[in-house]
Amino acid sequence: MRVLVVGGGGREHALCWALSRSPLLTKLWCAPGNPGIPEVAECVAIGATDIPALVRFARDQGADLVVAGPEAPLTLGLADACAEAGIACFGPSAAAAQLEGSKAFCKAVADAAGVPTAAWQRFTDASAARAYVRERGAPIVVKADGLAAGKGVVVAATLAEAEAAIADIMESRVHGEAGATVVIEDFLQGEEISFFALCDGETALPFGAAQDHKRVGEGDTGPNTGGMGAYSPAPAFTPELQQQAMDRIVLPTLTEMARRGTSFRGVLFAGLMLTAEGPKLIEFNVRFGDPECQALLLRLRSDLLPALLAAAQGDLAGVRLDMSDDPSLVVVMAAEGYPATPRKGTEIRGLEAAGALPGVRIFHAGTARRADGTIIADGGRVLGIGGTGATLRDARDAAYAAVDALDWPGGFCRRDIGFRAL
Ligand code: AMP
Ligand code: GLY
Repeated sequence: MRVLVVGGGGREHALCWALSRSPLLTKLWCAPGNPGIPEVAECVAIGATDIPALVRFARDQGADLVVAGPEAPLTLGLADACAEAGIACFGPSAAAAQLEGSKAFCKAVADAAGVPTAAWQRFTDASAARAYVRERGAPIVVKADGLAAGKGVVVAATLAEAEAAIADIMESRVHGEAGATVVIEDFLQGEEISFFALCDGETALPFGAAQDHKRVGEGDTGPNTGGMGAYSPAPAFTPELQQQAMDRIVLPTLTEMARRGTSFRGVLFAGLMLTAEGPKLIEFNVRFGDPECQALLLRLRSDLLPALLAAAQGDLAGVRLDMSDDPSLVVVMAAEGYPATPRKGTEIRGLEAAGALPGVRIFHAGTARRADGTIIADGGRVLGIGGTGATLRDARDAAYAAVDALDWPGGFCRRDIGFRAL
């Protein structure tokens, strides 16, 4: 089986690593990939949003499956273009990817499907939005409707913060056209969980859950990021809560999407708040989370390739997933200055020795390789340091031992990944 993975972050390194272990695999490419990926796949210099070039490459090389890592190629129609070319694609059509591409669309589908989620309204007029937050009161949540690189959400503790968010998003357009429409919703209290289900358009198979750490600072302080670390499983998300999430959130959403003629195939990532009334939907994403994917795949014992292919082909019936009970934990190392202005170009030493420590696997994200072979920081989130062990504490200790073995003065990480479960 010949497979093309699209993307070049830590998630795609983990996907390539897991796929490379499949006995069914004969060839694996990653476009554009990153400096960690050549150990398991051939990197191809095509950007992750260059849909025509990606599909041309997949067709010319006789790829049997295209696996979309990030959301951008999906919202741009990668799956639709693959379908036209007769190539299976893991990931939804552009129409179904609107579950992530538009928060208002996601909330409308949730309401139509009877999915529990925060009460909300959609606005295109800033003064109407202001009037609504004054009526609802704080805390309240203001969201740019469109894709804003994970930065379009403001959890406002006060009315002043909510009004400032409305001004920034709608009037100053700090996220561009993504802020032409906003969704304003009630604040949900509880523990946050990332839950993943493989979907074939009709049915879904739980892939497991992880807990992310979105804030840059220890104890969940400071600005939001793409995610500073994750661990899996998340003990707060019991089997009963997972069943509720399947029955009340994932399956009704699939039914509603099918009813609309935009069946969902791929992985549905439900960002859930575990409230006193049960799990409530915060948002859907149409891809694996990063770094949650790294944590989940460190636990996967069965073959990833047939599972992704079955979802892409619309028939998950025969698929079983086997996850190890041993926990995993991923610590993200970011370049100093992240998330505002990460400093690029600092050299990272000691990767080989750190990666050889017991229970450790290192995933590259924002790295670059210089002509002399040295690895440098080339983005915000730079490395994902994965640890596994018999207990979450062991997994954490393994990951931090590798962090400490690295020689990278230009990088930093949170020291408290996993604190809620530990
Ligand atoms: P999103 O991009 O929608 O996942 O939002 C980013 C982060 O904002 C989430 O991970 C939550 O921590 C927080 N958030 C979003 N919506 C709500 C809500 N209704 N109540 C509380 N926190 C929220
Ligand atoms: N880690 C959260 C995300 O991938 O959106």
